Amino acid sequence: FSQMEVPCRPELFDFHGVSMISAFTDNWENVQNFKARPDDILIATYPKAGTTWVSYILDLLYFGNMGLDRQTSIPLYDRVPFLEICVPFLPSGTDLADKLPTTPRLIKTHLPVQFVPKSFWEQQCRIVYVARNAKDNAVSFFHFNRMNLVQPDPGDWSTFLQEFMEGKRVFGSKKQTYSNLHYMFYEDLIEDYRREIDGLCSFLGLSPSAEEKERVRASVTFDSMKQNKMTNCSTVAVMDQKVSPFMRKGKVGDWKNHFTVAQNEQFDEDYKKKMKNPDLKFRFEI
Ligand code: A3P
Repeated sequence: FSQMEVPCRPELFDFHGVSMISAFTDNWENVQNFKARPDDILIATYPKAGTTWVSYILDLLYFGNMGLDRQTSIPLYDRVPFLEICVPFLPSGTDLADKLPTTPRLIKTHLPVQFVPKSFWEQQCRIVYVARNAKDNAVSFFHFNRMNLVQPDPGDWSTFLQEFMEGKRVFGSKKQTYSNLHYMFYEDLIEDYRREIDGLCSFLGLSPSAEEKERVRASVTFDSMKQNKMTNCSTVAVMDQKVSPFMRKGKVGDWKNHFTVAQNEQFDEDYKKKMKNPDLKFRFEI
């Protein structure tokens, strides 16, 4: 599809208290009535927290030995459907998920916990939640909004940051979810990939051989995924990778190249007020 056929730079609106765009609410009935299966695995994240990375890790852990065809011809977004997405000329996330030929189904969502379809809880599906420190997350989201025409225009960095802090960005403010799930941090994955994969595998009940694990590791490095057309979104027409590549930097602490001292102080103050849960510790550098 061409850029002309999809709604570019859509309006944000309040949707049950969360900022949204129509691409994530147009299919609401089907999303809410989605029939999860007990072995489905939901990959839940705030946008830009490391969704693609963890989706690809899971895809390779489950289906890495299914043959080269799959690895070279099916983009990751078709292997791991984005549950709530609904844009013209493309199958909706729920349709893609319903038609997935493989088991378990890996399904991605950015929905805040109160919007996650109830069948996932009823079926007691496993949920892998990926979180990232809010400063790097904001920077990554800013660049993503610049390059992805189906996101609202981010404006300049300081306007964006202000709106991000006020929850006036798609999916609202960064929100923690709870229980029944495996919680992962982007920073931990960067710091010690092997430890994190062992934790993930034990949650999933998988015991890949050392060779399999090594094969997955080599495929999911930042550089491999940046080169890989199935994971770098180079096939997505509405993304202008010249503005900012989808696989942008993949670092912890890039926020320091964007935040002014004043912005950082304001952010920290606001953060202290909003993040009351002492058990949830994010690292802004490693
Ligand atoms: P940056 O913009 O900071 O580079 P999502 O998949 O949720 O949209 O998250 C995208 C962010 O994850 C981007 O961050 C991207 O570069 C980073 N990312 C994707 N794959 C990665 C990998 N293999 N290693 C490290 N970072 C990765």
